[in-house]
Amino acid sequence: MGSELGFETLERETRIEALPVEGEIPEWLGGSLLRTGPAKFEVGTRGMSHWFDGLAMLHRFGFAGGRVSYANRFLESRAYRAAAETGEISYSEFATDPCRSLFKRAMSLFRPALSDNGNVNLVQLGERFAAMTETPIPVEFDPETLAAAGVAWEVPGTLTTAHPHLDRANGGMLNYAAALGPRNHYRFFGLGPGTGDEPRVLATLPTREPAYMHSFGLTERWFVLAEYPFVVNPLALALSGRPYIENYRWKPERGTRFTLLARDGGEVLGPFETDACFGFHHVNAYAEPDGTVVADVCTFADAEIVESLYLGNLRNGAAIPAPELTRFTISPGPGTVTSERLIADPIDLPRIDYGRCNERPHRYVWGAGTDGTGFFDRIVRADLADRSSTTWSEADCWPGEPVFVSRPDASGEGDGVLLSLVLDGAAGTTILLVLDARTLDEIGRAQVPHHIPFGFHGQYAAAV
Ligand SMILES: [Fe+2]
Repeated sequence: MGSELGFETLERETRIEALPVEGEIPEWLGGSLLRTGPAKFEVGTRGMSHWFDGLAMLHRFGFAGGRVSYANRFLESRAYRAAAETGEISYSEFATDPCRSLFKRAMSLFRPALSDNGNVNLVQLGERFAAMTETPIPVEFDPETLAAAGVAWEVPGTLTTAHPHLDRANGGMLNYAAALGPRNHYRFFGLGPGTGDEPRVLATLPTREPAYMHSFGLTERWFVLAEYPFVVNPLALALSGRPYIENYRWKPERGTRFTLLARDGGEVLGPFETDACFGFHHVNAYAEPDGTVVADVCTFADAEIVESLYLGNLRNGAAIPAPELTRFTISPGPGTVTSERLIADPIDLPRIDYGRCNERPHRYVWGAGTDGTGFFDRIVRADLADRSSTTWSEADCWPGEPVFVSRPDASGEGDGVLLSLVLDGAAGTTILLVLDARTLDEIGRAQVPHHIPFGFHGQYAAAV
């Protein structure tokens, strides 16, 4: 068995007090790694089409005194509850629609049944936790019981990202939302950490054909919007009757457009155009003293990656396109964008020493990598001080996103560990791997008794 097991359903919900551990789990780890990801790929007799469609499951790895507890539970979203109650896919996912009668399809134009299947990422906002996807319905959950608690907060738009940034000014979050309708706008908004806080739209930009947007960059002054030429006609989105992502079109002649929107709602600089590419993940951004903006992004030559992540391809072991760590340098004066590849190793699902480096220059980038013949099969650490990289891999092991956790008394950037869920294809189980973040030397691992389907993102919560 290889990576294909990572795209098979996990039904079992469990709570385990102490997982078997090999090596050492650092005593200073005292919080929880919370993750979300697709875990159920069929409802009744119908299968989901795409990796991004699977019904979300939450996972919690709790750390205390060198021990690791584990719990998992399906995210009880309305999409999940409807599937459980009716035995049918009831909400539109990324690439899978419910079977609808013509009448229901016509009605859905006016009241779209947006899924709240928060399988992409989760965020802590003040005391609250929410699981998120790209619809504007974050689902709040209890980080201890993993029970869902309804809609977490209002999002001012039709589409959003599951990659909000921390608002250092107030501990809240900053995120993107696209407002679609007769007129379309990209929006950036802020939401304070308090339960009574309302979202505030901070910057807007009109657009005729919104680009697919999975994340954005942030500097101390700017929102960094990267429009890859994978765009949608919002009318088609409403009327085509096709699953969401099938309405997007690759239009390389548009190039990739960077726009800088001031976080205080003032200036808008750009768009500044460069060659066509596609990406899901901004890594980090910062401004140089001369006003140049540096944005590191994991890029692909085109949007083929979306196609490659259909479950039919992944279960056949088809290779995913290799993502490149690309540095874009945006010079607003002359209006130019240059790009360069930073390391040779493919890398995506990127993490940085966020608390220390977000909005500021960074040295290290960690992510999942591939040799180009299959799925993600290694963990990569890029050291931008000398443009070198180091990898961790084991035979028939398939790691996910490595989450960086800083040591409490860290000596500097990268002093901490990486936490990554690794599917052991031979054993048919998943391990929680703990690596030294700077060297990728293994410190310890905890064994989960079953496989965990490949997920996307998670967060370490120090106080849970
Ligand atoms: Fe993502």
